[in-house]
Amino acid sequence: MRMPTKGRSWDEVRSELLGRGGNDAKWREGKTAVYVFNAGDDVATVQKEAYAAYMSENGLGPAAFPSLAQMEKDVISMALGLLHGPEGASGAMTSGGTDSITMAIKTARDHARATGRTPEKANIVVPQSAHLAFDKACHLMDIEVRRIALKTDGSFEVDVEAMEAACDAGTIMLIGSAPNFPHGIIDPIAELGAAAERLGIWLHVDACVGGYFAPFARMNGVPVPPFDFEVEAVKSMSADLHKYGYAAKGASTVLFRTEELYAYMPFEYSCWSGAPMTTPTLAGTRPGGAISAAWAVMNYLGVDGYRRLQGEVCATRERVEEAVKMMGFQIVGNPILGLMAFHHPDHHALALYGEIYRRGWFTSVTIEPPSLHLMLSPKHSEFIDAYLDDLADSVRAVAAGEDGKAVQKIEARYS
Ligand SMILES: Cc1ncc(COP(=O)(O)O)c(C=O)c1O
Repeated sequence: MRMPTKGRSWDEVRSELLGRGGNDAKWREGKTAVYVFNAGDDVATVQKEAYAAYMSENGLGPAAFPSLAQMEKDVISMALGLLHGPEGASGAMTSGGTDSITMAIKTARDHARATGRTPEKANIVVPQSAHLAFDKACHLMDIEVRRIALKTDGSFEVDVEAMEAACDAGTIMLIGSAPNFPHGIIDPIAELGAAAERLGIWLHVDACVGGYFAPFARMNGVPVPPFDFEVEAVKSMSADLHKYGYAAKGASTVLFRTEELYAYMPFEYSCWSGAPMTTPTLAGTRPGGAISAAWAVMNYLGVDGYRRLQGEVCATRERVEEAVKMMGFQIVGNPILGLMAFHHPDHHALALYGEIYRRGWFTSVTIEPPSLHLMLSPKHSEFIDAYLDDLADSVRAVAAGEDGKAVQKIEARYS
């Protein structure tokens, strides 16, 4: 597209703009189980109005916008309250999980340097199931990533012994996820904590997905193991507001056990023509709307609202588990929150994915092992039966294409 010489009317532009979404994934109809977290129209209205109210303000200027500075402090305080942040814990809002993870690694690296641990080449040790944001951050900072294979006993759990064995004098961070993205499993943070303490290494918990889910699931009676600052060795956490915090996109939190550790995060610079500046996160300009929308949604929902929504998500996941097992799938590991993967021993995940995609569902896949993957939202409770019907049809279609006998086997299972 070339920029039009003359601008067009907003009516015309709006109509084209909205029309362009016509071929997008149908998330409003519950047909997407990745990228979008749909908590319903009321939450969307709060997001939009709260975002618009501070859309032009810039979180980079706390002195100019004390409103945003205070909202950010409130958000961090609410986050630390949920995640067992001890007295003196601190943190900041960032643009997303990748930003939070990058800043946590940068902080651990600078802390290691400042405390006399200056290896020639630093490394971090992560489970194979950890998000690729760790690799991206380390690519930027020239840090080695040591990905450690999961246990081979079918649990898809982290091998803590192997993680510990992979650490050496250059290791600046050990990582656990709560939960990881591919399988939705919470890593054994307490065990990783014990290893981190033995080795004197910084432990980061990536709770981008679970940070605003697991505490409420636990309140609802889900047996969530210790995964946050409750585990003494945890030095930092990433927790995304724009996932299960149901905030507008561009909002995450990065949290530190102490103010002293957090102090290694902001970037300060004065050797240039401009005025000395401090930027706390990877971004320079920080959209005020992302801060105000997160603050507003947290206040709008409150603990009761989050408990209700996360309860709906867990109930949907249980419904899916039950139904897909009837179709011959095996659940990968033991997911207890809103993410899950399920593997079919007879049919390849990509073939099944193709069929379900053709039926209008935009979901995801996990590669190890080849499985279908769902990141469920509260709104899915209304649509899950349609998904499961289409999934059953997809299994039949793949089976028919692959092996006629398999269809009979599946039919027998349903009857
Ligand atoms: C476990 C986990 N960590 C980190 C991220 C990265 O978050 P973002 O996409 O907001 O950068 C994701 C994204 O899905 C995730 O699932």
